[in-house]
Amino acid sequence: MAPEPQLDPLVDPSPASQATASSSSDQADAEKAEVKGYFETTGFERWNRIYSDSEDVNKVQRNIRIGHQKTVDNVLAWLGEQGNLASRSFCDAGCGVGSLSIPLAQLGAGRIAASDLSAAMVAEASRRASEASISSDQLQFSSSDLESLSGSYETVICLDVFIHYPQQLAEGMVNHLASMAEKHLIVSFAPYTPLLALLKGIGQLFPGPSKTTRAYTLREAGIVAAAEAAGFRPVRRSLNQAPFYFSRLIAFERA
Ligand SMILES: C[S@@+](CC[C@H](N)C(=O)[O-])C[C@H]1O[C@@H](n2cnc3c(N)ncnc32)[C@H](O)[C@@H]1O
Repeated sequence: MAPEPQLDPLVDPSPASQATASSSSDQADAEKAEVKGYFETTGFERWNRIYSDSEDVNKVQRNIRIGHQKTVDNVLAWLGEQGNLASRSFCDAGCGVGSLSIPLAQLGAGRIAASDLSAAMVAEASRRASEASISSDQLQFSSSDLESLSGSYETVICLDVFIHYPQQLAEGMVNHLASMAEKHLIVSFAPYTPLLALLKGIGQLFPGPSKTTRAYTLREAGIVAAAEAAGFRPVRRSLNQAPFYFSRLIAFERA
């Protein structure tokens, strides 16, 4: 666990960790192991409840659910407007419990490869997909970190995962995901803004059990620059909010 108390992903607006974080690979590996451990255990239980219709959530978690649903709904609407879902291939990188992949499959997406660092999240996503009678030909799940992903997909999507990456590594990950995307790349992340910086102390409001892994807010200009350097241009943006949830969503197209 991180030495200092941190918050659930996407609720910590503090950029403080950016200032202190080392981007050394040792530190990155240690943080990833910590994130994996969290999402295999207490994090899995917490986020599985948040990403469901369970009544067993507190007010903060309910608001995160509402905010996150806005992000998912935006992506589904954008993809639906682009059309041709049946002839497209998708990569849902860091898929969680399938909150995007499952409705995307139900909308008729041709092929979706969904993966997550956490085997527990993948198992739950797979269970939910079976329950929804989605075939494994259409939607395939695997356990993988973003770094290990490869292949080529018409559209690559990565929602609310960069909260675990400091700026430089997140920009590197944009480059990596862009290399797998033939036409479209969609990412969301908690943006760093001076206003959010003012809310830094908000963490003290949370009860102990909800404090967990280190969380990073990211500078949007750096994320866009990384995508542009990889040959993509931003075509759509939205800012999805609810109390304790703040997520910038950007759709890129190959230029
Ligand atoms: C806040 S959840 C978002 C899940 C999903 N993208 C969604 O929007 O419903 C963050 C997810 O990222 C996964 N994750 C964190 N670090 C990862 C990494 N390095 N590689 C792949 N997945 C990762 C976690 O296991 C968790 O399922």
